[in-house]
Amino acid sequence: MSEMRVKFSNGEFVPLEMHKVRVVQKLNLLPIDERLKAIEEAGFNTFLLQNKHVFLDMLTDSGTNAMSDQQIASMMVADDAYAGSASFERLHQAIKDVFNKQYFLPVHQGRAAEHIISQTFIRKNSGQCIPMNYHFTTTKAHVELAGGKVLELYTDEALNLKSSHPFKGNIDIEKLRALIETNGKERIPYIRMEAGTNLIGGQPFSIENLRQVRDLTQQAGILLVLDVSLIGENIYFVKQREKEFHNKSIKEIMHTMCDLADIIYFSGRKVSCTRGGGIATNDYSLYLAMRDLVPLFEGFLTYGGMSVREIEAMAVGLYETLDETVISHSPQFIKYLVERLDERGVPVVTPPGGLGCHIDARSFLPHIPSLQYPAGALAAALYIVSGIRGMERGTISTDRDEHGNEVPADCELLRLAVPRRVFTLSQIKYVEDRVAWLYKNRDLVGGLKFVEEPKVLRFFVGRLAPTTDWTHKLVEKFKEEFGESL
Ligand SMILES: Cc1ncc(COP(=O)(O)O)c(C=O)c1O
Repeated sequence: MSEMRVKFSNGEFVPLEMHKVRVVQKLNLLPIDERLKAIEEAGFNTFLLQNKHVFLDMLTDSGTNAMSDQQIASMMVADDAYAGSASFERLHQAIKDVFNKQYFLPVHQGRAAEHIISQTFIRKNSGQCIPMNYHFTTTKAHVELAGGKVLELYTDEALNLKSSHPFKGNIDIEKLRALIETNGKERIPYIRMEAGTNLIGGQPFSIENLRQVRDLTQQAGILLVLDVSLIGENIYFVKQREKEFHNKSIKEIMHTMCDLADIIYFSGRKVSCTRGGGIATNDYSLYLAMRDLVPLFEGFLTYGGMSVREIEAMAVGLYETLDETVISHSPQFIKYLVERLDERGVPVVTPPGGLGCHIDARSFLPHIPSLQYPAGALAAALYIVSGIRGMERGTISTDRDEHGNEVPADCELLRLAVPRRVFTLSQIKYVEDRVAWLYKNRDLVGGLKFVEEPKVLRFFVGRLAPTTDWTHKLVEKFKEEFGESL
């Protein structure tokens, strides 16, 4: 199965955009002294940077993917009504066509779906756990809020950062079987599988693995919930890497995956290049069990907290997820960046996944202890030397345990997200250049410490400071080598 639909004559792998740019947004690249000031003001947390101070925003692909002309056009025909909007009907049809699910609950974004699912199915004080291939930050917070415990049953390969395993997002079937035997249906209200596993580097699971999970859940009478926020890229990898699916259409693969789950949910900020989110099922009783929480927390059943314009664009965006040129865009750019950085010795997570290029901050900055947050320090340092905004996915993103102790993360990753259809190849080459330069000068980067630490999801708004004056030394070195260059 070829990764490229268009080959270059010299055999080189070059990602080729299957779209053209028709609307642009001007970018700003501030001089390095101003970048240092900006990150100081942001408490060394890239979430708190102002976008006007950012050159390439690689924080996330959430809500930052580029919409298509068809999506924008659809927004002009949105039907504004509190109840029974025709826009909702169009979205509902898209849910049926794309995901093959009949019943749909709209919500304002992915975590709202997680809220509703956790509140509906998890019972407080009953020792229930939710097994999953890997957690996502908001998923874990909602499961715990509802009184459940997250159990990650990833395979040994999942956290092997240098790997060629095609499906690092697989759940460990034997661990799952053993857990079900010990806990049974009473203490496992549902099993959650996350497509394109976000926190371990946008890594896919195989359909073979999902089928095995399905068999176990069916035998035990446990629900299977599938997070399809990143399903487009997972499907692309299944088509590339799982022999049975090489010649299947994207729609066939999508239906095969969704048919295996009792409930699917998504963040529209990812899967449909819009905002919003939703929950879908073919089981009317499950739909009814969740339904009443939508008007309570989100809005009426035909908008769920979304604007009608968003609803129209979501419908179109979901259909576009069935287009291979759309879902292959990010994985191909990511592959290009990962392979270039790998060649230059930078420790990157392999194989390249979806979502973004992930840098292994523990190997990049081995001199920084986990509790001085290597991935956070790397995110701040990269912003200073380039204006590129990445996201820490490590110990800062892992909240303290119930006793207030720090929990060093399994992996310290700096995620450089590659949102769909947003960046050009020269911008990606700039990322390669500045990351490689920083790697050569990695000894100059020091640690961070919290100066303001929220109790929940601390990575969003927590403020930090450097443990020494390393940021100034880094700026001096940059100026020495780059002179007047930005
Ligand atoms: C896999 C996954 N699930 C759920 C969410 C939460 O979605 P949202 O940010 O729309 O609340 C995200 C967001 O990044 C995600 O990546």
